Amino acid sequence: MATRRPAGARTGAWTAERLAHNKIGQDDRPRRSAKKIDTTTAAKAHAHVPASAADGGNSASLLLFGGPYSNVHALSALRERAEALGIAPQHCICTGDVVAYCGEPEATVALIRAWGCHVIAGNCEEQLAQLASDCGCGFEKGSECDRLAQGWYGFAMQRVSADDRAWMGALPKTLAFSLAGLRVRIVHGGLDIANHFIFASEPAVIAEQLERSGADVVVAGHAGIPFIKKTARGIWFNPGALGMPANDGTPEVWYGRMAVGREIVLSTHRLAYDHEAAAASMRRSGHAEAYARALISGRWPSLDVLPPAERAASGRRLRPHRLAIPARAAAIKQPSERAR
Ligand SMILES: [Fe+2]
Repeated sequence: MATRRPAGARTGAWTAERLAHNKIGQDDRPRRSAKKIDTTTAAKAHAHVPASAADGGNSASLLLFGGPYSNVHALSALRERAEALGIAPQHCICTGDVVAYCGEPEATVALIRAWGCHVIAGNCEEQLAQLASDCGCGFEKGSECDRLAQGWYGFAMQRVSADDRAWMGALPKTLAFSLAGLRVRIVHGGLDIANHFIFASEPAVIAEQLERSGADVVVAGHAGIPFIKKTARGIWFNPGALGMPANDGTPEVWYGRMAVGREIVLSTHRLAYDHEAAAASMRRSGHAEAYARALISGRWPSLDVLPPAERAASGRRLRPHRLAIPARAAAIKQPSERAR
């Protein structure tokens, strides 16, 4: 059975009060957590999306991706893909967990910083920035995921510089903007909890989150399996993780796109990359052999966090998702009082 920590259980919680529209903006509301985020620095780093792409553009495309997980080989391949697609760095958004399981934390941070895409903080950035003793992924104490995390998190902590930790600590926890009339919000896991695992098989959870989101589309990561779920309350879009396969028995990883033309098209995409090199890098350091095998096999070493449906689908090749929304339909739901 899933061994997920319940919502509200960790210190990275924050609540919604305001969304910035017509531009990508970070959520700068007071947080229940005692964590101090340097919003001035983060604002400088994340306030450069051209208006033509963020709102009202008719040919804009966003590239979206979750956890690079210290997998510099996959991140490099994605950057090449973005360049091949003609998607500028300011139109690329990472939902956090830049550093986690794989073998090259410093190089991955250096590459994503040099690329200049948007990044929000995942639980790993929050924990590393604070020199916390664990990854904050939300794994149940004593579970296999928890045991494995002790290996890779300790390795990552040793390999991340003070300067990179400062960068992580200054990352925003969310972004909000409008795209061709759709209100879009970027979070790491859930609305309130960074390490909330949310999967496609949980429609009630998704509907509840969307109801409170104040957005038409919520883009989230953390859970590691790509999906697009349309509900009466809006759309939940997990573009998948970049640094680890999706437990579907293939070594390829995933990213997503939101393209604006005559309609707005949300889609998920496979990305082949040099996974043998990524696994070899992990084996040189020897810190997480089980995840090195996962890069090759496409199967996770532990299914602790998965609900029954996702667990049953282990090793089954995923199909890409595509959802088209009429651009002029704009908002999927009427703004509620709580969303304003
Ligand atoms: Fe995460």
